[in-house]
Amino acid sequence: MTEFIKKDKNITELIEEKLKKYRDKMISARRHIHQYPEVGDKEYETANYIENLLKELDIKTERLLDTGVLGTLEPESSGYSGKCVAIRADIDALPICETVDVPFCSKNEGVMHACGHDMHTAAVLCAAMILSDPEVKSILKAPVKFIFQPAEETDGGAERMINAGCLKSPEVSHVIGCHVDPELVSGTIGVKYGYTHASSDMFDITVKGVKSHGAYPDQGVDAIVAAAQIVSGVQSIVSRNIEATEPCVITIGKFNAGTAGNIICDEAKLSGTMRTTSAQSRQTAMKRLEKTAEGIAAAMGASAEVNFRPGYISQNNDDYVTDVLIDTAKTVIDEENIIMKAKPSMGVEDFAFYSREVPSVFFFAGTGFKGRTNYGIHHEKFEADESALDIMVKLEVLTALRLMEK
Ligand code: NI
Repeated sequence: MTEFIKKDKNITELIEEKLKKYRDKMISARRHIHQYPEVGDKEYETANYIENLLKELDIKTERLLDTGVLGTLEPESSGYSGKCVAIRADIDALPICETVDVPFCSKNEGVMHACGHDMHTAAVLCAAMILSDPEVKSILKAPVKFIFQPAEETDGGAERMINAGCLKSPEVSHVIGCHVDPELVSGTIGVKYGYTHASSDMFDITVKGVKSHGAYPDQGVDAIVAAAQIVSGVQSIVSRNIEATEPCVITIGKFNAGTAGNIICDEAKLSGTMRTTSAQSRQTAMKRLEKTAEGIAAAMGASAEVNFRPGYISQNNDDYVTDVLIDTAKTVIDEENIIMKAKPSMGVEDFAFYSREVPSVFFFAGTGFKGRTNYGIHHEKFEADESALDIMVKLEVLTALRLMEK
């Protein structure tokens, strides 16, 4: 056994011992947060709770935005030799009425932690407890940051936290993030190299024609017929303009037009969402969507205007940081419980903004209960197996310690 492995084994044992010490505190934090869920940018009580807990641990805290909390744990020695690593949790809940029968179910009517962000928060709080424990703190080679960000479910807290300076002074080299996954049973994790989540762009298309009597369509320009052709036309962008192996979705989910059955309509409004992973596919799809809408409208004597509203960028895991995470996972769980995901999710994750700034990794923690029906995230019956927290914490702490080494 080499010195490195021996040392590493000792550290793993030390972290396991500390986890035992703080586990009850972590579970009660998780249940408290679960009981008092708050939606994006309204997480005032959650942020207060987090801030107080970090202060008790003697961790320097800062309020970023109204409801974001940044904790910075400084190592004992001032002239540190390692890299500063951040562990991130999203803290917001969803406007859903919880129907799960547990003693700690939501007490905030109509709001629920249906995406497991209570689990993410509890895991990062426990990571803070362990890393600030004197015995662990003494081995830190650099500061560790704990990022508790608001509004992952709404307009994105990550980019705003970055703009507010959460990755600066001290400069963060890597960020670690995690999401619960009810499709994987507790005891397993899901990992993927490269893109884990798509980018999302909303778009609106306004088609303008000329109004006339429904009996004399030749005297007008029918915006409904033009818009209908546009809906059909954009379907071929994915099949004809995007490389076959590249993920791309274009959905038009809203079509509003017309005032009466006997009037030729002069304006139709379409709205949709576009999902891609690579920047090239995104650019191609946007350009083609614009050209297709404008071209079809023009051919029919109408006009079309396309407006994009950019959402989250795609989430991209760094190869090196993912390697470190997987290597670390092998010391925490059996290799067969590390599930390599083959495909990215076409859903979004604002952790992407941290990954754009510094090489980072985002993994999935299996939180499904063995041998029973597991409802998906954002479902009123969604429930997470708390036993998954142990793996989440160990992996976050040990990966952070490894990444810290230069
Ligand atoms: Ni989520």
